[in-house]
Amino acid sequence: MVKGSKPATGSVQRTRLVLVVIHLADFETKDDDVFVVTFPKSGTVWTQRIMTLIYAEDFPGKANQPIHKQMPWLEYRAKGKKYITGPSPRLFCSHLLQPLMPKMLQRKGKVIYVMRNPKDVMVSYVHFSNNMKNLISSESFSEILEKFFTGLMLGGCWFDHVKGWITNKDKYNILILTYEEMIKDLRSVVVKICEFVGKNLSDAAIDKVVETATFKHMKKDPLANYESPSLTDTDCPKGPFLRKGTVGDWKNSLTVAQSECFDRVYQERMKDVPLNMVWDISELQG
Ligand code: A3P
Repeated sequence: MVKGSKPATGSVQRTRLVLVVIHLADFETKDDDVFVVTFPKSGTVWTQRIMTLIYAEDFPGKANQPIHKQMPWLEYRAKGKKYITGPSPRLFCSHLLQPLMPKMLQRKGKVIYVMRNPKDVMVSYVHFSNNMKNLISSESFSEILEKFFTGLMLGGCWFDHVKGWITNKDKYNILILTYEEMIKDLRSVVVKICEFVGKNLSDAAIDKVVETATFKHMKKDPLANYESPSLTDTDCPKGPFLRKGTVGDWKNSLTVAQSECFDRVYQERMKDVPLNMVWDISELQG
């Protein structure tokens, strides 16, 4: 939740959603548009970085710009028409719930939807909200559990987000990826994305994308850590944006009781949408 804003409940939340929908109502999707869509803390900046590297030759003048400028937010920039008329191919990023995406998007443009196991999303969000000057900090993990279950956080409700996109996937030209498969084999994911968006990169170019998008490299990359003189003070994080970049870090923060409570809610709310969620790094080995 953004600092200084009222809790996004009831009419306030509805008003915000309506504003986004109005902004995007006249958005015209082009066939070669690509939208990376995620729930916050699922690997958004990581995927943005991969995309800007894959498309680097299309935008030679943008290479030194912060990643969110190279690949702008669909919803946050909707008031400015500049990118809407910008040159193709257009790359966008979004945290929007599926029903809020521009309707014309269906069957036009491409969507890359990235999900991450929600316990890691939640723990990452706690650190993120404490790191960002313009967000309300999360005091405790019991507090964040409540926020996560009710959806009173940036991005709304994880369960609605994932269920909305997964159950409506047939309406889109969509590639569904997971943060965990990116951790397991980044190169395969980069190849998969190139095939999906129709970019024919040489093996050496793919190697370069993978190397530049590793956690080790990106952690030191100011463009990926919101370190830019063009950002206002409140938009800048207090520390590096990239934190641990692993699978199963929730085990270091949640108590057994909190984890079991999460499991019960997860089973109940996701029972109609079975997903092979990877909860721990050990599941990726072998
Ligand atoms: P952690 O807080 O668990 O470390 P988003 O961009 O959607 O906000 O997601 C942020 C999460 O992605 C953070 O997770 C961040 O460290 C992780 N991340 C970003 N770049 C990464 C990379 N190259 N490799 C692995 N994880 C990365």
